[in-house]
Amino acid sequence: MIGVDRDPAMLAQARERTSDLHGVEIREGDVHALPIGPASVDRAKIDRVLMHVAEPDAALTQLHRATRPGALVGLVEPDWDTLVVDAEDRQTCRDFTWYTTEKVVRNATI
Ligand SMILES: C[S@@+](CC[C@H](N)C(=O)[O-])C[C@H]1O[C@@H](n2cnc3c(N)ncnc32)[C@H](O)[C@@H]1O
Repeated sequence: MIGVDRDPAMLAQARERTSDLHGVEIREGDVHALPIGPASVDRAKIDRVLMHVAEPDAALTQLHRATRPGALVGLVEPDWDTLVVDAEDRQTCRDFTWYTTEKVVRNATI
């Protein structure tokens, strides 16, 4: 299994958490230029990353390049626009959701 992230702190955490697992390799890289050879994996998962990236289409093209034909791919992203905060003040909830969707998360509804 190969894990990829571009953030040094996340990479350090991932390496620490998987240090006792055989067959796990953590690589530094960007999803726009995945450090994985063409057609070299048959399973892939992107979990809460596409919402942050500058070019999601390019990232998915990279994923397509790295996976073998017939590979299983899982894509997991929250929809921030339908987020509900369980608060008594409904306007604060709406304001929080609006701010997160419009100002914080680049691809909030991907
Ligand atoms: C919400 S975290 C999810 C982390 C991990 N997928 C998980 O399930 O725990 C989002 C991650 O996306 C990474 N990220 C954002 N843009 C990236 C990019 N262009 N290339 C690689 N990683 C990226 C961040 O460094 C961060 O670790």
